Amino acid sequence: MEYQVIIPAAGQGKRMGAGKNKLFLHLNGKPIISHTLKVFLDDEKCSGIILAIQPDDEDFFKKLLNTYSTTKKIHLVFGGAERQYSVFNGLKVIKDSNIILVHDGARPFIRHEVIHQLAKAAHEKGAAIAAVPVKDTIKKVQDFQVVETIERTSLWQVQTPQAFRFSLLWEAHHQALQENFLGTDEASLVERLQYPVQIVTADYDNIKLTTPEDLYIAEAILKHRSLNK
Ligand code: CTP
Ligand code: MG
Repeated sequence: MEYQVIIPAAGQGKRMGAGKNKLFLHLNGKPIISHTLKVFLDDEKCSGIILAIQPDDEDFFKKLLNTYSTTKKIHLVFGGAERQYSVFNGLKVIKDSNIILVHDGARPFIRHEVIHQLAKAAHEKGAAIAAVPVKDTIKKVQDFQVVETIERTSLWQVQTPQAFRFSLLWEAHHQALQENFLGTDEASLVERLQYPVQIVTADYDNIKLTTPEDLYIAEAILKHRSLNK
């Protein structure tokens, strides 16, 4: 199933504490965002990449794209103050697409197999998201006091990509904007339309590089993959 992907890359990386966009940090000698872009550039089912960046980072991205032999798939747009607005700015430049994926620039380890399952599920059902079963026991806490232990078998840790029929995602973003709703992922906007969202089981190593220790976990994932090629 052919698709286009919106990659939000317009964050500040505050929790990484690197003093710059964390996506510029290197893994195996290449910026994190290059690893993420490569996955989609190498996927023949991906017909377009919309990359949302912040204006301050434009020079970095233009230089980076100049080093690629083919960038015809990549369309740069400016992101917004929140991730949701960055994705929405990406949606606005898409003219004709059936299936849209949204994938965090900070998740460089996504595999083609999961991407393809998501695109197919979105084509068939409208909305599908990557997730893995929660491994830890999760408790609801207030003022450092346990309020409740949530039954683990019903808990899934949600990742990206999240895949949708274009019209559904467009409507969900419009409604969220009208109602001033800010979600941390696209599915939460779609859920508000009472639309069912399908789960596709993904991989535990599809991590989002968020805090400094994620960098050495990322090095270990890369090493493991290169040994198992
Ligand atoms: N993102 C974006 N626009 C924003 C905020 C985030 O495009 N206004 C992107 C980030 O670049 C990242 C993805 O959304 O690829 C997931 O966000 P997150 O991991 O929270 O990254 P940052 O917002 O950069 O990090 P932090 O929240 O620690 O500042
Ligand atoms: Mg953020």
